[in-house]
Amino acid sequence: MSYLLGIDVGTSGAKALLIDAEGAVIASATEEYPLYTPRPLWAEQDPEDWWRATVAAIRAVLNRSGVHAEDVAGLGLTGQMHGMVALDANGQVLRPCIMWNDQRTALQCAEIMATVGKERFLALTGNLALPGFTAPKILWVRQNEPEVYRRIAQVLLPKDYIRYRLTGGYATEVSDASGTVLFDVAHRRWSLEVLEALDIPPGWMPSSYESPEVTGTVSQDAARETGLRPGLPVVGGGGDQAAQAVGSGIVREGVISVTVGTSGVVFAATDEMKLDPQARLHSFCHAVPGRWHVMGVMLSAGGSLRWLRDTIAGPEREVGRLSGVDPYEIMIAEAAQVPAGSEGLLFLPYLTGERTPYADPNARGAFVGLTLRHGKSAMVRAVLEGVAYGLRDSLELLRALNIPIEQVRASGGGARSTLWRQIMANIFGTELVTINITEGAAYGAALLAGVGAGVYRDVFEATERTIRVVDRVEPVADEVAIYDGYYQDYRTLYGQLKPTFDSVAKRV
Ligand code: XUL
Repeated sequence: MSYLLGIDVGTSGAKALLIDAEGAVIASATEEYPLYTPRPLWAEQDPEDWWRATVAAIRAVLNRSGVHAEDVAGLGLTGQMHGMVALDANGQVLRPCIMWNDQRTALQCAEIMATVGKERFLALTGNLALPGFTAPKILWVRQNEPEVYRRIAQVLLPKDYIRYRLTGGYATEVSDASGTVLFDVAHRRWSLEVLEALDIPPGWMPSSYESPEVTGTVSQDAARETGLRPGLPVVGGGGDQAAQAVGSGIVREGVISVTVGTSGVVFAATDEMKLDPQARLHSFCHAVPGRWHVMGVMLSAGGSLRWLRDTIAGPEREVGRLSGVDPYEIMIAEAAQVPAGSEGLLFLPYLTGERTPYADPNARGAFVGLTLRHGKSAMVRAVLEGVAYGLRDSLELLRALNIPIEQVRASGGGARSTLWRQIMANIFGTELVTINITEGAAYGAALLAGVGAGVYRDVFEATERTIRVVDRVEPVADEVAIYDGYYQDYRTLYGQLKPTFDSVAKRV
């Protein structure tokens, strides 16, 4: 029997997931690590923490499963995207990783757009320079830490640092490389034009592969540390969103995924590179060779409901504590008593600013339309609906690019609620399904490892053999009509409130 190992170097921890060739989950282990915020808006991690956690997680899955290291056929890596790990000529880490959610580089983003020109930059990289992305971080280090900058010999993404520790080689793959905004997304190679314009040595960038390709093998040293076998093939893998999409079977046009975790992600695979002319969607290479993807990212999706639970759902938390029922379930049962549209109450989910469709850090959350009749249950329902309207904004951008939407696959914590799934189906006006797999990006990385190791012919066969639809929710015509009306109102609110958001942001 051959087994496949997926490693996810996430934001809060490293996860190791072992599956068999038919896709059954054999064992999973997660080891956490800290996130440092040395200044407001900064977010950093120590790559050594990732390595320690990865080693512990791999050892835990091998021990728990009893699977022999010789029977693992391949290893795939995934992880948080956009981070900058700087190494010197001896492969030593020069400073902590500057992470995807670090917001220090607004100045450098403006400088990049001015240097390359907005249209050219968008055509080459598929995106605008946003503070979370890698390129502006390199410029920030040049301007603020010249003594570090002088010693840089290699720049790696987080999961690719773990690849380096496992194999000794510097490599990446096309989906994560796209998130650096130094990558020519149409041609699936580093953009010498952008690197040159920004005066970044191309030699700092690792070799780039397609996601299922073997990039190296586990070294003797790494084998000793992790318990894996030396020579185990390590495939490219994918950035967490692309790998999550593979692990949900989002590999062809027509099937879209909506992931409701803290953030909300709408993801579509495309046969060719497709660009939103205003760059409200990200356009990256997919982890499927020869395919691309577009993606809308909403910053507070499940995060909005968590905020409501933590601020006004004290009694529900208490009942939950005493009865062992999840407080979210109690809140959602209350919301089910309120009619579709929450009797005119609308919620804007911009609690941490917004990425798609507004790319506006000053955007703020709001309840609009409150009356004496509205109680807590209406507020809960309005939050469920407001998040779904925000996700529909991304679906509308896909529709504008003529990307077909035949089926939407929901995943993440938010997809566990039947009511929320029904609300999403009604607001999107589409069938909404859930699948048998809930292991996320690590699962996709394991499938990619299976392709590289020859267990599957290609990514299509890997997903067809392992992923199944297990539940379907159809839109209800009456409610679709109600929500279509409210969605038009929702869409007008951001523009109307924008001057107030900007003014308020200046006061705090
Ligand atoms: C994708 C993104 C996040 C991070 C962290 O663009 O910013 O998914 O990769 O999970």
